[in-house]
Amino acid sequence: MKIAVIGTGYVGLVSGVCFAHKGNQVMCVDQDRNKIAFLNEGHVPIHEPGLQELMKECMERSLIHFTTDLKNAVQFADLIMIAVGTPPLPSGEADLSFIENVACELAKSMNGHKIIVIKSTVPVGTNHRIQRLIAHLSPFQFQIASVPEFLREGSAVKDTLLPDRVIIGVEDEHTGYTLKELYSPYSEQIMITDIRSAEMIKYASNAFLATKISFINEIANICEKVGADVTQVSKGMGLDNRIGAAFLNAGIGYGGSCFPKDTQALIQIAGNENYNFKLLKAVVEVNNDQRFGIIRKIEQAIGKISGKCIAIWGLAFKPNTDDVRESPAIDIVRTLIQLGGTIKVYDPIAMRNFKKVLDAPSITWCESSLEAVDQADAVCLLTEWEEFRKMDLSTVFARMKSGILIDGRNLFTPEQADAAGLEYYSIGRVVNQSSLRA
Ligand code: UDX
Repeated sequence: MKIAVIGTGYVGLVSGVCFAHKGNQVMCVDQDRNKIAFLNEGHVPIHEPGLQELMKECMERSLIHFTTDLKNAVQFADLIMIAVGTPPLPSGEADLSFIENVACELAKSMNGHKIIVIKSTVPVGTNHRIQRLIAHLSPFQFQIASVPEFLREGSAVKDTLLPDRVIIGVEDEHTGYTLKELYSPYSEQIMITDIRSAEMIKYASNAFLATKISFINEIANICEKVGADVTQVSKGMGLDNRIGAAFLNAGIGYGGSCFPKDTQALIQIAGNENYNFKLLKAVVEVNNDQRFGIIRKIEQAIGKISGKCIAIWGLAFKPNTDDVRESPAIDIVRTLIQLGGTIKVYDPIAMRNFKKVLDAPSITWCESSLEAVDQADAVCLLTEWEEFRKMDLSTVFARMKSGILIDGRNLFTPEQADAAGLEYYSIGRVVNQSSLRA
């Protein structure tokens, strides 16, 4: 199939490359000239395991091309996929201006029948709004479809090549059939539904996963009070097939480009219909509180932050990505600075992006985990990178001024920390049982 993908962010670029990998002819479009030039040189602008190799292979087979010329791409393709961003407005609502601009340009460029797939996460009803917009501007026939994206950063290629399920929202059987054919090499689990339900499935899925995380984080906070171990509680809960083990890791809360944005947007979508989504509002509130809980733990461990040196391990919102969007580390480092601490940070790949968001004279940018802990009063782990898991904690202890480890992701066990001589604080696990009421 001849496919044009508009927008070369995470979703667009990975989708484009994975379509090309299966033998489709793909043209990826972006208005960012520098990005397109970079891509045409064979470079990938994001850190995503496996993407560079797959893209190179597709370029060598001439199955993928990159351009800023939207008209040319639209005229080349039978199927056009819109994958531009829908960032949050101050109200929490999704900003649809990018998708609307693309739809207008696309409509004016059409030269015949097209299938137009919307991949961007959009509020319920947007596909139909875009449909009306294009129909108003183009004399040509077209079908619109909603195919929401569920890929995760850090495993985007794997998630696209082997998705758990593909959701296809369409208005007619024939378009449903064509899209099912396109996606059949990727998954056996293909669900065809109406457009509004497809739009809602995306928001509901992300909101549910965010709910799981906030739920386990509240359970963790209660575990600390009653002397239970949240890692054991999650394991025990997860053994129930109805609950499932995934997304029950307690920590400093979720971040990233999707959960914070999509939960706010769904609250707003409900609010626009005069529906108060109480549960989801609480999920967001719990998540915001959770990242500040770690500050209290640091204070509990070292006393006043002012004048102390705190090492931070991990800045990305999760491992295997250099993305720091809505990363809890931003609020945490900012608060520690406001409280008068000096901060030594280290992340394997996210430091450059973090520096663009938050830079201050009291931050030292370190080149290794060990450099960060040198003479520190405490080390605080915020992202569960594999590199940290492999650290020799005895060496860490030896390099620190006082051996205190605050583990925001429960990456280590209390026993590991204890064996290295470190005083250990984590989420939802009380190390010193004597501190509990009898
Ligand atoms: C998410 C969805 O998983 C994906 O389907 C959607 O397309 C985009 O949003 P992503 O943002 O890449 O993907 O990250 P994900 O792996 O889902 O993690 C999101 C956040 O939740 C991270 O900050 C992570 O640290 C946190 N998390 C995840 C927890 O705190 N505990 C868990 O048990 C799982």
